[in-house]
Amino acid sequence: MRKPVLIGNWKMNGSLQANQALMVRLLPRLRLYRKSVDLAVCPPLPYLFQVRDLLGYTGIALGAQNASAFVSGAYTGEVSATMLQEMGCRYVLVGHSERRTLYGESNQEVAARFRAVMNLGLTPVLCVGESLDERETEQTSSVVESQIQAVIDEVGFSALANGVVAYEPVWAIGTGRTATPEQVSVVHQNIRGFIAANAPEASQDISEGLRIIYGGSVKPSNALDLFSLADVDGGLIGGASLHAEDFGSIAGSLAKASGILEGECETH
Ligand code: 13P
Repeated sequence: MRKPVLIGNWKMNGSLQANQALMVRLLPRLRLYRKSVDLAVCPPLPYLFQVRDLLGYTGIALGAQNASAFVSGAYTGEVSATMLQEMGCRYVLVGHSERRTLYGESNQEVAARFRAVMNLGLTPVLCVGESLDERETEQTSSVVESQIQAVIDEVGFSALANGVVAYEPVWAIGTGRTATPEQVSVVHQNIRGFIAANAPEASQDISEGLRIIYGGSVKPSNALDLFSLADVDGGLIGGASLHAEDFGSIAGSLAKASGILEGECETH
């Protein structure tokens, strides 16, 4: 059984004061679900230290929004996975669509970043997804498959199992326009099917164990419908992760959809 995972991507938002206020309200809410759901927040780099301290021993993980493909050296502006590991990060997003579209990260570059994160024993969260134009021209499957294939080419098929795949249709990110449960279901099934179909004969099929999560305008009002889909194993949340009530409510929906509420864990 796949344990659901919920990750808050704060993007380039926050301040020392705002982070403190958010975490004080968020932690009591998230604590209710931490046994049934893997939970993480990804603040901007300058705040990792602050947020790590605020997370303390809550069991809620720290994550980062990107990592260099390199271990160290003359790469101004970059941060290595080793540094993130030292700061206590457990998850690292790679290939977020904002990195791909605004900063030109190619499939190959994203794959190299995936490898660097994986090599450190951290969990890379590989973000994939199509633009509106690609959806309208029926290229969704081929775009998503080539984004995943680049990682398989880089790290090998079995190593993909070290990561989480996040399907985030570009047109649904920050737009308030959520993909419908039907659209999400089709893509998640395709991803699992693509991985199953591409397993080399000697390799074990990793598709059933791989967590595939959804991101793109997830909010309290649509979270339960999305998380109830059979192939959706959690969420990657942007805007709503900056609001304690909303992120707490979304975590509750994920716990509910997975059928294991904390109270039930403790009493049975
Ligand atoms: P929104 O939830 O704000 O649409 O952002 C999704 C996202 O990009 C998470 O990585």
